[in-house]
Amino acid sequence: MAVSVRDVAERAGVSLGTVSNVLNRPDKVSAATLERVRAAIDDLGFVRNDVARTLRAGRSNTIGLVVLDAGNPFFTDLARGAQERAAEEGLNVLLGDSGDDPEREQSYLDLFEEQRVRGVLISPMGDVGERLRRLRASGTAAVFVDRSGADLAFSAVFVDDVQGGRIAVEHLLETGRRRIAFVGGPLGLQQVADRWQGARAAVASVADASIELLETAALTVEQGREVAAALLARPADERPDAVFAANDLLAIGLLQGVVMLGTLRVPEDLALIGYDDIDFASAAVVPLSSVRQPSREIGRTAVDLLLRAADGDEEPRRIEFEPTLVARRSTQA
Ligand code: RIB
Repeated sequence: MAVSVRDVAERAGVSLGTVSNVLNRPDKVSAATLERVRAAIDDLGFVRNDVARTLRAGRSNTIGLVVLDAGNPFFTDLARGAQERAAEEGLNVLLGDSGDDPEREQSYLDLFEEQRVRGVLISPMGDVGERLRRLRASGTAAVFVDRSGADLAFSAVFVDDVQGGRIAVEHLLETGRRRIAFVGGPLGLQQVADRWQGARAAVASVADASIELLETAALTVEQGREVAAALLARPADERPDAVFAANDLLAIGLLQGVVMLGTLRVPEDLALIGYDDIDFASAAVVPLSSVRQPSREIGRTAVDLLLRAADGDEEPRRIEFEPTLVARRSTQA
């Protein structure tokens, strides 16, 4: 039989209301009473029942967050920003990793709907607009993070990835590189397609510059290493003199591949720039240039928009952050 709030109140010799205050508004309780009630909670092994509390209160204190790849520090930084902001409102964040798998993405949306979470933040795999409409109809708000989201019915917080791609390649061109390779994929991912679009736009404005697309199956370190091996297998006069990788994980894999194979030097023979500016970029064996996304601010801002929507403000808002160049050794002229 689970220990109840009433058991805790009797053990501590206080009212039910006092136990509720200790759990929800400890600042309203004296230090002595706090200590007595918390001792009773520990002695009895009381665990609050958030589902029951949600039913009583009519709304959850939990937010669901679905990301594409929890192994990518960009998303863990975004999640930290969301958790920080949520905690300021006494809320928690449950993290779901879709792992670039649409079915897993759907199962997390189903789970968060069943849990009646306060709302859902999602960096979607594909077109989830219809699913999010059903979620909203059953009382769960939703906000896109890291994508402008084709569905304008929902708020979105994102970075202008076309501008980001342009910034990355303009920087390579300014350092004198002319044979650029864009490494990233799948192109079905909006973030990748936008960066590729920006990269092409930058090259189009320089007469003697060229760009080639090396599409990858995913945005991972492993994929980056595979591309490095393929580039190094080329005759010297068929190799690019610079690579723009669609995110830092790819760039780190490329850097590993080039350094391990040892026949090319970064940046002397091959300049390299990534995207996101995760912590590992500056810590790489050759400090990696990147295009910074304000990941924690994206997470914080997305929670703000979600709480507005959960409070009935149906007006969708789109908040776009500007990407910024972070130039390091891997692209030095
Ligand atoms: O997961 C795909 C990529 O898109 C991440 O590296 C980050 O750049 C996001 O915007």
